[in-house]
This record gives sequence, C-alpha cells and structure tokens, in this order.
Amino acid sequence: MEGCCGGVKKNSMFIYLISVIAALAGLLFGYDTGVISGAILFVKEYFHLSSVGVEMVVSVVLLGAVAGAATSGAVADGIGRRKTIIITAILFSVGALGSSVSDSVGVLVACRLLIGLAIGVASYTAPLYLSEVAPPHLRGGLVSLNQLMITIGIFASYMVDYALSGNNEWRWMFGLGVIPAVILVLGMIFLPETPRWLISKRKKEAALKILARVNPGRDVTVDLSEIETTLSQKEGSWKEVFQPWLRPALIVGIMLAFFQQVTGINTVIYYAPTIFQFAGFESAKVSILATAGIGLVNVLMTVVAVWLLDRLGRKPLLYIGLVGMAASLGFLGYAFQSAALSGAVKWITVASLVVYIASFAISLGPIFWLIIAEIYPLHVRGRAMSMATVANWLFNMLVAATFLTLIEKLGKAGTFWFFGIMSVICIAFSWRYVPETKGRTLEEIEAHLKKNTGMRGFGSL
Ligand code: BGC
Repeated sequence: MEGCCGGVKKNSMFIYLISVIAALAGLLFGYDTGVISGAILFVKEYFHLSSVGVEMVVSVVLLGAVAGAATSGAVADGIGRRKTIIITAILFSVGALGSSVSDSVGVLVACRLLIGLAIGVASYTAPLYLSEVAPPHLRGGLVSLNQLMITIGIFASYMVDYALSGNNEWRWMFGLGVIPAVILVLGMIFLPETPRWLISKRKKEAALKILARVNPGRDVTVDLSEIETTLSQKEGSWKEVFQPWLRPALIVGIMLAFFQQVTGINTVIYYAPTIFQFAGFESAKVSILATAGIGLVNVLMTVVAVWLLDRLGRKPLLYIGLVGMAASLGFLGYAFQSAALSGAVKWITVASLVVYIASFAISLGPIFWLIIAEIYPLHVRGRAMSMATVANWLFNMLVAATFLTLIEKLGKAGTFWFFGIMSVICIAFSWRYVPETKGRTLEEIEAHLKKNTGMRGFGSL
C-alpha cells in the first residue's frame, strides 16, 4: 500500500513539475508583453523616437506574435511539442539579450520582432503541451497554470519597470527576461514529449511510459488505445481542419479569441496608467503603482480560477466572470459620464478596474486558452489551436491600435460601454455554443464533436 501511495505522490509531483516548467513559456509571454509599458518611456528618450517609432517598438511584438502563431502550428505537429518549446525558449533568450544591448532602433525592432515570434509560438504550444500530458481530472488547473504564469509575468514586468525606472535602466528591463528563458531551455531538455504526439509518430512504447507516470493507478492501456483510435484517421492537414464537422469547434475557438480581446483586457494591461490619469490621478508614479496593484489582483484571481476550473466547471466561471466584467465596465462608463459622480471618478475607476480584472482572471483569461487546448481533435490540434491563437493576436493588435482613437470618437464612457456590451454578447454566446469540458477526456470531447450535431449540439456537451 505504502509503495503504491508513495509512488502516486511522486508521480503527482512529477506532473506538477512538468507543468510548472512548461508554463514558464507563459511567464515569458506575460513578461515580454508587459515590460514595454514602462521601458518605452526611456527607450523613446534614448533613441529620440517619434510617435511612429514608439508605435513600431511597441506593436512589432504583436505583429511577431501573429506571425509566430500562424507559422508554427505545423511545426508543433511536425517536430513535436517539446522541441518546439525548446526552440521558442532559445528565441526568447536571444531576443531578450539582443534588445538589452541594442544600439540602434533597427536592432531593437528586430529583437522585439523575434520576441514576438517566440510569444506567438509559446502562446499556443505551452497550453497544447500541458493539455496533452495532464490527466483529465487535473487538466483544467494544469493548462491554466499557463495563464497564471502569464499574469505573474505581467506583474513581474510591472514591478521590474517600477524598480528600475529611477535609473532609466531600460536595458535591464529587457535583459532580465533572459533568466526565465534559460531556465525554460534547461528544464525542457529533461521533460518528456507528450504521449499523444508520440503515438501520432508511432512511438508507442515511449508514450505508454509517460502515460503511466502521469496517471498513477489508472489503466493506461485504455487511454493508449483511445488515443490510437482517434489517431487512426488521416494525418492532419489544412484541408482536414476545414472539414464541416469541425466547424463548430473552429467557430467557438475564434469567437472566444474575439471576445477575449474585444472586451478590452489589453486596454487595461497596456494602458492602465493612462486610464488612471484620465480619472484624475496626476502623478505618473502613483498611476504605475496602481497598475501594479491591478497586476497583483490579476495573479491572485487566476490562482482562484486554477483551483475552481476543475471543481465548478468552465461554463459557470465564464458566466460569473462575464457578468462581473459587464457590470464593472458599465459602471466605469457611467462614472466617466455622470457629472454628479465626477469627484468620485478616481476611486470608482480603481474599484471598477479591480472588479473588472478579477472577473476577467476567473473567466475569459484562462478559459479561452483552456478551451482551445481541449476542443480540437488530436490529428488537427496543432493547426486548429494555432488558428485560434492567431485570431487572438490579431484582435489584440486591433484593440491595442484603436483604443486611443475609440476614446476620441466614442468618448471614455462610450468606449467602456462598448466593451461592456461585448461582454454581454459573450454571455449569450457561451451559453449556447461553448461546451462544458470539465472532467472529460480529450477523446470523449472529440467523440461528441464527431456526432456532428452542429453548433447548438456541440454547445450542449
Ligand atoms: C490574454 C492576454 C492578456 C492576459 C492578461 C491572456 O489570457 O490572452 O492578451 O494580456 O491574459 O492577463
């Protein structure tokens, strides 16, 4: 008995260790997208950048991420998830080092492009890897570790920016990203490939070993044969991705990417100090500190989400979070518009943003990445996930690029109400079309999709 349970414990430790290392890719995603908010102030001065120059340095990362996510679906299916993450971590290291020593805008932009590429690849390969090694009852929490690491990365970058801003140390701000990148390279060298990818390459023995290690006490030959059955179909190709029976899953992935971004999250992540200044906080320092507070709430509530996802399920959390997002955005808009509240706008802004970020962190934040790691059949998973990821980065770029213009055209209240209305539409969309994947094996989810019952049928799982 003792032998059994000691073994079980050791194996659970093994799966947690695997997950934490792989989720470092998420930390890099968060750090490298967040760090620019503070660094840009000094980079702008150092290189005497025009506003176009600033926009280039900031947004080239998003452009790289679109390209990275678009080109590497096939890479993860071809060379495997593990090797793809190793290459990505090397790109992160080179990009971070390069940007920290760059002495011309051209080199800096090239390095930021490289980092963007790495973020794009990492943003779907890490959840893909995690979903394929995790046992079903832990999958929601483990895949969402990636989102937790993203939020920790964003928070860390805010703190680093804050700490180093006194001495204009923008080189260190970029350079510190090397540390998690090198740990990721070293860690991944020792991590196994996912059983599902190994089986797709006919490496049954190796796959069985890993399945047994991460599913102690479970008859993994059953899992093995289930995976083999789902894989016995044709090798995945782009044509296969667009088969009519897969359409509900594709639409759900792309629409959740759309909603995750058009409900305004990155206007807060990238522009929180600006929003605080709109609300009447005069000191930049206080605004940056308040932003760090928002970053911390984001981390803490993602911890709560990781804990709840496999208990409450995905859909209840989506509803709770989206209601909170819609309500806080509605209130924020009202505060900006109503003259009667003008004295209180500052504090209403802080309170609304805290409720907003907390609600995002327990819902659309982790659940988008989780659902797209769960709903696609194995033989097209890499490509289909990369499509949803590309959509996410494209919508991200669109919102980031238009936020200040939206404020000009719709006004502050109108802009936040627009994001609020999108949150309400997302509630209706989730209720009808998003499947509940809690506790199911990936093969069960695939079997449900195959029944070919259309969008409503898929959402009824
Ligand atoms: C989103 C990012 C966002 C982050 C904030 C992620 O799920 O994809 O765009 O910056 O959450 O925590």
